[in-house]
Amino acid sequence: MEYSKLVSFPKDFLWGASTSAYQVEGAALEDGKGCSVQDVKEVIHGTADFKVASDFYHHYKEDIEMMAEMGLKTFRFSIAWTRLLPNGTGEVNQKGIDFYNNVIDTCIANGIEPFVTMYHFDLPAALDIKGGWSNPETIDAFVEFSKLMFENYGDRVKYWLTINEQNMMILHGAAIGTGTTTQKQLMQDNHHMLLAQAKAMKLCHEMCPNAKIGPAPNISAIYPSSCKPEDILAADTFSAIRNWLYLDMAVYGEYNATVWSYMREKDILPEIKAGDMEIMKEGKPDFIAFNYYCTQAVSACDKDESSSETTGDQQVAVGEAGVYKGVDNPYLPHTDFGWQIDPVGFRNTLREVYSRYRLPIIITENGLGAYDQLEEDGSIHDDYRINYLRQHIEQMQLAISDGVKLFGYCPWSAIDLISTHQGFAKRYGFIYVNRDDEDIKDLKRYKKDSFYWYQKVIKTNGEDL
Ligand code: BG6
Repeated sequence: MEYSKLVSFPKDFLWGASTSAYQVEGAALEDGKGCSVQDVKEVIHGTADFKVASDFYHHYKEDIEMMAEMGLKTFRFSIAWTRLLPNGTGEVNQKGIDFYNNVIDTCIANGIEPFVTMYHFDLPAALDIKGGWSNPETIDAFVEFSKLMFENYGDRVKYWLTINEQNMMILHGAAIGTGTTTQKQLMQDNHHMLLAQAKAMKLCHEMCPNAKIGPAPNISAIYPSSCKPEDILAADTFSAIRNWLYLDMAVYGEYNATVWSYMREKDILPEIKAGDMEIMKEGKPDFIAFNYYCTQAVSACDKDESSSETTGDQQVAVGEAGVYKGVDNPYLPHTDFGWQIDPVGFRNTLREVYSRYRLPIIITENGLGAYDQLEEDGSIHDDYRINYLRQHIEQMQLAISDGVKLFGYCPWSAIDLISTHQGFAKRYGFIYVNRDDEDIKDLKRYKKDSFYWYQKVIKTNGEDL
């Protein structure tokens, strides 16, 4: 639908930007931090490991001040579980507590609302060795970690996100380095994570009555490859598996019926203990956060048809015999890294999420991974990133005009950081960090053209794109 007049962004709209601890902080083993699964995983040849990253750990003050100069109203960052609890549970590392106190205080001193992700792909290695999310004790460990965060930061942090992209950890764990196992075990791990999330949401409301908390999956509208009814059905099934399983449980405390039947057919139903479903119902989110990069298209797939045509990257639908088959959408362009670009799909996705759940929405990731060039005069001309973000912000305003209650937007990423599996060459930031995959260089920060552009967008509350 086209409008003759668009609804403006709300006056207190949270223009922000995001990072995650292991991708930006560095200091991987400094000041008592323990190892996470990201620190011990095998790094793909030719890409940087996570030891130094963008060295935010030592540059946080300068970085947050630059974010303030850009005009950010909020900064979404994650807390490294292993900085607070090096073994995942038990002994507390005071230096880790202090670090995030400093980050939060620096944000507040600069007029930036801290928006905290509790867990972003970096499970403590000590818990992973004991079975990770397959072990129900990890649920208790997550609750212990949550309690520690609410006790220490709950007086200043108003917005919390439970688990970043739980759906990508389940569907693409091999690509993002969180590990993978059999489908049946994955569904059990998923059940445990959903329980951990529900318990954390309940605890947050008890311990921090003024705070708000929500889940942060990666959500994409799923398109059928044609109007053939079988393709439409396949798209609906895949959307339930990829998207709604996670949000139906977070919001309604119920398993999505299509996914339940799919799991029953495949004999991969999780074991549900007495009391689990009551716990799921008790955890209620105040809002939905989701990450959006692009939509995915699928076709029907026969039982005997081989469906796996791609590498299993998190933004590329793969497929499953008898269920669905991922296809490339011929109407959409690709980024340098093979992800498709679909701003209109962003509007579709926002509308679908809002009409299903009727909760306020914040976008916690959206952005373009690209090769950037630092010029001799210190400038970076990333007009491709500006175009990508502009088109997505336009669609957000259309979605707001459609009636979607959107209260914030945090593109990925505030500053350059290491991609989940494609190294430092794949940059997303508004702020350039002078290093590459092989050489840490001087880690100096430079403002990209997109920095100045986003500064203007924020200043005019999205009027001047
Ligand atoms: C999301 C993650 O999947 O996408 C981020 O939450 C990640 O951690 C981002 O960095 C971009 O993906 P990638 O693989 O390009 O780093």
